[in-house]
Amino acid sequence: MNLKEDNQDLKLWGARFKQRSAAILEAFNASIGFDYKLYEEDIQGSLAHVKMLAVQNIIPDADAKSIEAGLKQIKAEIALDPRSWMETRFADEDIHMAVERRLTEIIGEPARKLHTARSRNDQVITDLRLWLKKQVSELSSLLLALRKAFVLRAEQDVDILMPGYTHMQQAQAISLGHFWLAHEARFARNLERLDDVLKRIDVNPLGSGALAGSTFNIDRHFTTAELGFAKMSVNSLDAVSDRDFLLEYEFVLSVIMLHLSQFAEEMILWNTQEFSFIEISDAFATGSSMMPQKKNPDIPELLRGKAGRVIGVMNALMLTLKALPLTYNKDLQEDKELLFMANDTVRDCLTITVDFLSNIKVNKEKMYTALTKSFVNATDAAEYLVKKGVSFREAYSVVGKAVAYAVDKSKYLHDLSIEEWNAFHVAFNEDIILTLKLENCVDARNIYGGTSRMQVRERLAELKTTLF
Ligand code: ARG
Repeated sequence: MNLKEDNQDLKLWGARFKQRSAAILEAFNASIGFDYKLYEEDIQGSLAHVKMLAVQNIIPDADAKSIEAGLKQIKAEIALDPRSWMETRFADEDIHMAVERRLTEIIGEPARKLHTARSRNDQVITDLRLWLKKQVSELSSLLLALRKAFVLRAEQDVDILMPGYTHMQQAQAISLGHFWLAHEARFARNLERLDDVLKRIDVNPLGSGALAGSTFNIDRHFTTAELGFAKMSVNSLDAVSDRDFLLEYEFVLSVIMLHLSQFAEEMILWNTQEFSFIEISDAFATGSSMMPQKKNPDIPELLRGKAGRVIGVMNALMLTLKALPLTYNKDLQEDKELLFMANDTVRDCLTITVDFLSNIKVNKEKMYTALTKSFVNATDAAEYLVKKGVSFREAYSVVGKAVAYAVDKSKYLHDLSIEEWNAFHVAFNEDIILTLKLENCVDARNIYGGTSRMQVRERLAELKTTLF
């Protein structure tokens, strides 16, 4: 539909309507408002492409040289202030057109040869893959920094003991160091996930053209090497429409946010007056505008809250892709704007969490009190009996009765005397008292991966040699 022609018939408001409609459609169609962020990769891709065109004698060397010089000038121009540059080129629809038109302004005729044997369809996805490779490496460094922060925290807190929970019920005694390292293990897997996704990202689609390849004698091996891709795409139709590598990347972003959110939730809970296991430093909290006593944990709440939008971005891309026939469809332009937002969010959240972690004040007395006022050593009592030859089920039932008795007497298991224990089973000896000491309950779980302080220290030593 040609809007300008269609609107010729409109009276009175016609002139105005014609203009407004066209402007809305232009803006609706344009992606330069966000894809200018790919300018470096776009120019990098063009430089490799043009070099290849010259080597293959598809365009003259002199033209290639002039294009190269022009592209470098444009890159320097944009780098000064990418956002303002984009605003001056809004009429250019997307970054690919903007760079090409600017090149024509600078070098004239040779610029018109740049797009030989290329389409925006293979161009945009080359740009995006190059950009993602950088993001993977940046995110990996951030994940590493976070893992180190958990390790340092764990190192400080190995000797702090606390109740571990299942179903949010006090379950068994653990070392706080072990708790921090559980979070470290989650982020270690996220780092692995990124590494896995990189295999699918690191593929060169350039040369796939609009969809079917090229009639020119282009050398795809050349651009693959020039751009530093690990390999090249094997099917041009797939190459211009494949976005599943991006979906995977967004899945990893989502899992990272999920883990940050779970962590934040626990810190918010521990920071409540009821728990008081930790105090979140003032920098990560704000006051209430009405209630003078309040110190709200806004920053961890936002870490938790922002998981929603990042997971939403992954879902949005899935839904955008689900009904697309081969090959390129304009729907695919929707892949970038939300990705950039999600990527910024994850980067900020990781950076903030590193800082947040080192600023937590642990209230170890409160944690220890929670332990002493609990039945977390009930399993230890049962396992004590098993080691004296009693079957686990019998031991379980004996200790269950002891728990009921202690509750009745307003005591805990570690308050019971040997006489009281013997009333429940003859196999109890003096050493039950020592067995139920909370430090011993922690240290008795001395198997690889367990919470004993010795195991936590060994794990820390492993991590220190691999991460630092
Ligand atoms: N701006 C487009 C995008 O982001 C670039 C590719 C346009 N291709 C086309 N045939 N219209 O996907």
